[in-house]
Amino acid sequence: MKEQIRKNIENTNQKYLKGLVYENVPERLERQLEEMDWSYLDLVHNKKSQQRGKFEPLAATEISEIREKEEVYRKEGLAALKAGKVGAILLAGGQGTRLGFDKAKGMFNIGVNKNLYIFEQLIHNLMQVKEEADAWIPLYIMTSEKNDKDTREFFEEHDYFGYNRDYIRFFVQEMVPAVDFDGNVLMESEDSLAMSPNGNGGWFKSMIKAHLDEELKEKGIEWLNVFAVDNVLQRIADPVFIGATILSGCVSGAKVVRKVSPDERVGAMCLEDGKPSIVEYYELTPEMAEAKNENGSLLYGFGVILNYLFRVDKLMDIAEKNMPLHIVEKKVPYLDENGQLNKPQEPNAYKFETLILDMIYMMDNCLPFEVEREKEFAPVKNATGTDSVETARELLKRNGIAI
Ligand code: UTP
Repeated sequence: MKEQIRKNIENTNQKYLKGLVYENVPERLERQLEEMDWSYLDLVHNKKSQQRGKFEPLAATEISEIREKEEVYRKEGLAALKAGKVGAILLAGGQGTRLGFDKAKGMFNIGVNKNLYIFEQLIHNLMQVKEEADAWIPLYIMTSEKNDKDTREFFEEHDYFGYNRDYIRFFVQEMVPAVDFDGNVLMESEDSLAMSPNGNGGWFKSMIKAHLDEELKEKGIEWLNVFAVDNVLQRIADPVFIGATILSGCVSGAKVVRKVSPDERVGAMCLEDGKPSIVEYYELTPEMAEAKNENGSLLYGFGVILNYLFRVDKLMDIAEKNMPLHIVEKKVPYLDENGQLNKPQEPNAYKFETLILDMIYMMDNCLPFEVEREKEFAPVKNATGTDSVETARELLKRNGIAI
């Protein structure tokens, strides 16, 4: 093992690595320790919150306005789809710890009287656009090392839910070690650290690593619509959204919904030092959260739903830039000092993640595009309560989807 790694282990007094025989470290563990970015540990001890700029409101293109121009937008969007200029990116590398389902979240059966898997429902949604555009839309699915095999097999077993397999690609995101609250790396097994997916912000870098940027170029894909796995009403490659963004001249677009209350726990679209950005609910002062414009609507009243459109050339420009690192508390199973596997009921560890919402700030401009919440936003985050399996089922039913 490299001398520097030994020093790092000793200097940071790693309690779960005590007893490690340096001459005899399992190969996998040795590689992980060598690839690990030890500077992350300083972040744990020195948790300075990220410095943010000056926030100002950013108006959205509202539904009333969109309705008036809907057909113009639709025509533009459909033309781009037909010409093969738009690809879709399904972010499915998360671990869904809040849902407590130990497989990939997309494999969750949201059906009641019949089987309806989350992946299946998303493919149905995409298929509607395929029918309308009369063109297959290339779909790129990001998985993590933890769920890649299961996800691929699941799609294969279900015959890609009727989608054309030739238009589907999988790619795997990177992993980073999780640490306990004192900065000790956790072990998941005797030959591996407890590794976690590195957040949803690294998706484009991971695409490049998988050489999919070359495919984008070859196919002439100019726009990517990125979306989360866990919104079962997600409209994917929505021609109206695509058309509106293209015609606005913006290099990115974000679907937003009107917040249900000033303190709703969603990130809101805003300007930060004059650039498009997303302010987290906990970063808004109560005055900002409550502030209204003349017509009485909230100034920071449009929440993001993790459905973004990016122009590929701009993604290429920012691909090498560093993104802010977020430290998130999660429940991470680990081997304790006696070698016993623990499955914590409460968060016990920090994960290091970059987030896609930070990409918006890296764009020159962004079109916030309002959509009807009841029709397009049914997140499955928790097993029960808010944004849960129950609420998503209810919303599916209200939208006439048999479950
Ligand atoms: P969440 O922020 O809800 O995270 O992901 P999560 O890991 O799925 O769930 P919890 O917080 O542990 O309960 C939002 C979207 O980003 C994807 C998820 O799959 C989901 O589509 N994601 C998240 C990734 O693709 N990779 C990640 O590392 C994290």
